[in-house]
Amino acid sequence: MAYETIIVDIEDEVALIRLNRPEALNALNAQLLDELSAALADADRNDKVRCIVLTGSEKAFAAGADIKEMSTKSYVDVYDADLFGAQIDAIGRVRKPIIAAVSGYALGGGCELAMVCDFIIAADTAKFGQPEINLGVVAGIGGTQRLTRLIGKSKAMDMNLTGRFMDAAEAERAGLVSRVVPAAKLMSEAMAAARKIAEKSQIATKTVKEAVNRSYETTLREGLLFERRAFHALFATEDQKEGMAAFLEKREAQFRDR
Ligand code: HXC
Repeated sequence: MAYETIIVDIEDEVALIRLNRPEALNALNAQLLDELSAALADADRNDKVRCIVLTGSEKAFAAGADIKEMSTKSYVDVYDADLFGAQIDAIGRVRKPIIAAVSGYALGGGCELAMVCDFIIAADTAKFGQPEINLGVVAGIGGTQRLTRLIGKSKAMDMNLTGRFMDAAEAERAGLVSRVVPAAKLMSEAMAAARKIAEKSQIATKTVKEAVNRSYETTLREGLLFERRAFHALFATEDQKEGMAAFLEKREAQFRDR
């Protein structure tokens, strides 16, 4: 499918998806989110893809939802369209791992889009924020919920109430991002991480995603039980036999997703 607001490249079993609305700092409009959710669903189905990297430009991962597009809408318009709810839920249902590679601004819906990915690698130029308060609204696709679970109530309140931006170093200290790298190395680091994930058994990587995400949705007791059963279940796979045999034979494992 031909896309206008994103660019998709598949290389070494990694789908690299770049947001591409430079004129608006990759602001998320309906077209972009429709294309992105379609491209991610495609990548999820494509046997040649084992991991996904989502990125923007050097200046902006995404500066939020498109304010021009939203500004004149009524409550009924956004309620009826479930504005961005369907697309963000679809992104959340992707089973293959998604790494967000963030350089520059990740604001509002941009920060929320990064958080719906599985982890964030940030350039030292990254700036995160939930500035919706400055527009007379609040975050709408995770900025009061995912952010609070990731960085805690105090910082989430601070970000959402003041609208201030957090730099990459603070985001790493707060646990919003997994690593910070020099801007020039962002894509090589993110692609290397994705290729590393692509080498693993896909049954296991998908199970990791399910289990870690479960920890946000359930009690510790239920989550631990889910993890234990998932661990037990993987003993039914050929990849468990191969992974453990390869260790004992001091060779690289050849996983077949079986
Ligand atoms: C539409 C945007 C935009 C946005 C930037 N642009 N952000 N257009 N929606 N969110 C456009 C600008 O209008 C401008 O277009 C061009 O991109 C360059 O932006 P500048 O402001 O000139 O750049 P700069 O001075 O470097 O400032 C960068 C910035 C600023 C700090 C990121 O653009 C900014 O504050 N943007 C808005 C951030 C924001 O409030 N995000 C939250 C949106 S609400 P022109 O045509 O003038 O050159 C949201 C809700 C999510 O995300 C919930 C969804 C359900």
